[in-house]
Amino acid sequence: MLGYIALSSYLTHLAAISQSLYTAMAHQCFELALMVLGVWVSGATARGIADEPMRTKHEQWMAQNGRVYTDAAEKERRFQIFRDSYEYIKSVNRAGDRKYKLGLNQFADLTNGEFKASRLAFKPMPTASTTGSFQYANLTDVPNSMDWRTRGAVTPVKNQGSCGCFWAFSSVAAIEAITQIKTGNLVSLSEQQLVDCDVNDGNQGCDGGLMTRAFQYVIDNGGITTEDNYPYMAANGTCDTNKTSSSAATISGYESVPANNESSLLQAVANRPVSVGIDGSGQDFRHYSSGIFTGPCETEMTHAVTAVGYGIAEDGTEYWLVKNSWGTTWGETGYMRIQRDVGAPEGLCGMAKLASYPTA
Ligand SMILES: *[C@@H]1O[C@H](CO)[C@@H](O)[C@H](O)[C@H]1NC(C)=O
Ligand SMILES: *[C@@H]1O[C@H](CO)[C@@H](O)[C@H](O)[C@H]1NC(C)=O
Ligand SMILES: *[C@@H]1O[C@H](CO)[C@@H](O)[C@H](O)[C@H]1NC(C)=O
Ligand SMILES: *[C@@H]1O[C@H](CO)[C@@H](O)[C@H](O)[C@H]1NC(C)=O
Repeated sequence: MLGYIALSSYLTHLAAISQSLYTAMAHQCFELALMVLGVWVSGATARGIADEPMRTKHEQWMAQNGRVYTDAAEKERRFQIFRDSYEYIKSVNRAGDRKYKLGLNQFADLTNGEFKASRLAFKPMPTASTTGSFQYANLTDVPNSMDWRTRGAVTPVKNQGSCGCFWAFSSVAAIEAITQIKTGNLVSLSEQQLVDCDVNDGNQGCDGGLMTRAFQYVIDNGGITTEDNYPYMAANGTCDTNKTSSSAATISGYESVPANNESSLLQAVANRPVSVGIDGSGQDFRHYSSGIFTGPCETEMTHAVTAVGYGIAEDGTEYWLVKNSWGTTWGETGYMRIQRDVGAPEGLCGMAKLASYPTA
């Protein structure tokens, strides 16, 4: 064991020397050094050697993501998870049989369990049957594509960090949008206010919540303040009533989109961004990097995002344009295009199960 550790650190050393040689000398020289290295190490344990390039990738990824581990044992554990993620991502991308690609994002060293516990709902959100009014029910004039970003109704992508308050990000994005549509001003609003102050049997701060409950809170409170005034902490906090009194946006009500009907959702998104529940617990969803996401996923409501548009890709695939709250390193700079009109009533990943929006 000791011998192995000494060997691997010597190898790292040697690799570092090779690297500096590379910058200083001609190509052939470097290749020669590699050959010598290859012959020299051929007697060593296969696993230790095979790990080296992967360990370098892990180190690079750690640097890129500002990741620091408490000790060597933790680093080793994270390395194993990172390697599994890497192999999985590579195998999916290599197969090339999907309309999307996966990538190594900030979630690469988390297990599925850790990911769910830190980002998603503690327990899936309930989906009630929707019976309220829906103002777009008879709308027939729906454009072929829509992107609310180009209309100035969408703030930059935010990052919920390790706090499962996706419901606050989803509802705030919809409020920001309807406020911009109403007033012409785009203002970033406070998720932390909802996390700290909208606590009840439905909304549980970092443990999950419902967008319609958040809209109700904003109505009851007489508005919501700005992100600047009540900044995001990625943790449960105590409601600061000094801040909540200075409202920057108000809503008058909210409506639910009739559940399990993508045509209804289309009618709504054609008119404004819409908060939607979704299943975000799948491996591919977590590692999604680009293209049109086509599953696999479940339809349990474990996460929420904001539908900010829709369109048709060059190959004819219809998609929803979704704004997530996992930072810009996830997906297409924070967004996902997810397949639309999949034939299942609930939509892909349950997109059409739990949609709602605030009214001005
Ligand atoms: C849609 O049309 C039906 C039938 O004409 C009508 O009963 C209903 O009130 C209309 N809904 C809306 C939201 O306008
Ligand atoms: C956050 O607050 C809610 C509501 O009080 C509570 O149910 C939940 O356990 C808290 N979560 C964390 C991570 O502290
Ligand atoms: C609210 O403002 C008052 C007066 O400035 C101050 O005494 C109090 O500590 C503030 N409360 C919080 C929660 O910051
Ligand atoms: C789905 O919604 C569309 C548009 O609102 C409506 O015409 C249609 O009847 C709905 N389908 C079902 C199955 O409810």
